[in-house]
Amino acid sequence: MSDELKRQAALVALEEIRSGMVVGLGTGSTASHFIRELGAMVRSGLKVVGIPTSEASHRLAAEVGVPLTDFKTNPKIDVTVDGADEVSPELDLIKGLGGALVREKVVAHASRRVIIVVDDSKLVDRLGSRTVIPVEVIPLAVDLITAQLESWGGQARIREKDGKPFVSDNGNLILDWKHGAISDPAELERRIKGLTGVVDSGIFAGVAQCVIVAGSLGCRKLEKP
Ligand code: 5RP
Repeated sequence: MSDELKRQAALVALEEIRSGMVVGLGTGSTASHFIRELGAMVRSGLKVVGIPTSEASHRLAAEVGVPLTDFKTNPKIDVTVDGADEVSPELDLIKGLGGALVREKVVAHASRRVIIVVDDSKLVDRLGSRTVIPVEVIPLAVDLITAQLESWGGQARIREKDGKPFVSDNGNLILDWKHGAISDPAELERRIKGLTGVVDSGIFAGVAQCVIVAGSLGCRKLEKP
């Protein structure tokens, strides 16, 4: 997706933001457009506070002037705007190729409304058909969890960055599990989460209320019925 289309999708999401709201700030290139545009609105007088889903989003929000808050002060978020790596027809998601899946899930679950902003290449008939399932694990458990996931099928690899294991904002490792098409995302999400040593997975079943899809013909909004 071109950068301009990503920005257009972010602008559609921005239409839902009102003064007084607590806003969850997603991670990734599309969510970053939203944060920048939100910053411009704040500089023009919009009164919101944000809760970031990563250190990167925290830095960007601070840079563009979005005031930040925390769950102690604001335990409920009005709207979260975030990206995704795959979106199913039921609006279930795979997230976390950017490595922020755990904080993204915490923020999404604390939100009254979750808006996902993607380009149409992210739409799939079944989750897992294109991308891996990211699974964040505490370092001690990584070999145990690798073996357990692979006993269920597919291949799990420790994510690397610049030739070294990628370390999440939470100090953990990420296993990228090539699973293939998932028949029941909610059930698989529960099963992975049930493994001791797993912090969470990038399956986000039943979390998004709205997906804004940007394509060459413009943006369309998919709403959860
Ligand atoms: C980060 C994420 C991102 O939202 C996801 O990877 C999409 O990113 P982009 O908008 O750059 O395609 O889940 O953990």
